Amino acid sequence: MGKPIILTGIRSNGDLTLGNYLGAMLPLAKLQARHANAYKFNMFVPDLHSFTTPINHQDLYSNTIRNLKMFIAAGLNTEHQETYIYRQSFIPAHAELTWILDCFVYFGELNRMTQFKDKSENKNTVSVGLFNYPVLMAADILLYGAQYVPVGEDQRQHLELARDIAIRMNNLFKSDLFIVPEAWNEQLKFAGLNKGVRIRSFKNPNKKMSKSVIDPGTILLTDDPEEASKKIMAATTDSVGEINFDFATQPGISNIIQIIALLRDVPLNEVIAQWQGKHSYGDLKQEAAELVHKFLTTFQQKTSQIEDSYVDELLNRDEALMRQVANAKLLEVQQLVGLRRN
Ligand code: TYM
Repeated sequence: MGKPIILTGIRSNGDLTLGNYLGAMLPLAKLQARHANAYKFNMFVPDLHSFTTPINHQDLYSNTIRNLKMFIAAGLNTEHQETYIYRQSFIPAHAELTWILDCFVYFGELNRMTQFKDKSENKNTVSVGLFNYPVLMAADILLYGAQYVPVGEDQRQHLELARDIAIRMNNLFKSDLFIVPEAWNEQLKFAGLNKGVRIRSFKNPNKKMSKSVIDPGTILLTDDPEEASKKIMAATTDSVGEINFDFATQPGISNIIQIIALLRDVPLNEVIAQWQGKHSYGDLKQEAAELVHKFLTTFQQKTSQIEDSYVDELLNRDEALMRQVANAKLLEVQQLVGLRRN
């Protein structure tokens, strides 16, 4: 057995947001820095997941490359010997395993997924891809035997489904067929969090900041830092008049406090203690606005310095390797379900 694996992916269905950065990119980079010797790291773009809802297809390919650059700018060390970056569609085993798993996953299970319900609500047409999205995500995880999957709170249910699928397949076919990814609470503990990260829109703090639904409260990683600061200064808050960390009653204020803690890389309690009971919402916003301004300026500078040719080189090297890893697991599954000779 080789080293355990930490794996995550970000779709290329639009411009990445501050939510993507704080929920997935930064956690992966931090885990890599902390566990460089003990784990392997898979960072991929689930490009096949990127059009489960409509997108501009002309932008897909370049968005995929840009996302990879952003991961590097976020601090992912690609010089690390056992860090692999790749695109899902360049490894056909993902799609093939999905079909096999589909035959062992129940309609009712997928129909219960809250993200499917949210994204299909009030739509005249809903793609089968949107429905099947979590099974492809399970294949992404199980093909490589990932133990830890740093994702935002919105992906918790999908991760739990991947665990259920792994356990079911192991019971049906072979007890060690798939490594079962760790349960959600273990994932949080490993990432040093006591709660999943869910960054809200600055305009609608009851909603998650999303790249598929852009609103004036969304901060994109490509936003002009000045404009981004203005969005924070204009953030929707409340009429309580006193700063408290409580998402139920003061979601806008709590969102800002959480962002400050993540960007400063200090425990949430430290930032809560600093602001608790104070009255100036403006001062709180000002701190967040300055942090985001500084972060975006540096991040954009770093992204622009990464050449396409560097990313292409990494992809060519890692995709060849990952095809072998994924094909070996796929063959094992094909043999167990009777598609290949044992
Ligand atoms: P995507 O592209 O929608 O989101 C990528 C990552 O960003 C996190 N995220 C957030 N975190 C906190 N606050 C937010 N407002 C916010 N918005 C997005 C998501 O939780 C996610 O971690 N289905 C995955 C992509 C995927 C994947 C995988 C991930 C496909 N296969 C296998 C891990 C393992 C997704 O949500 O992409």
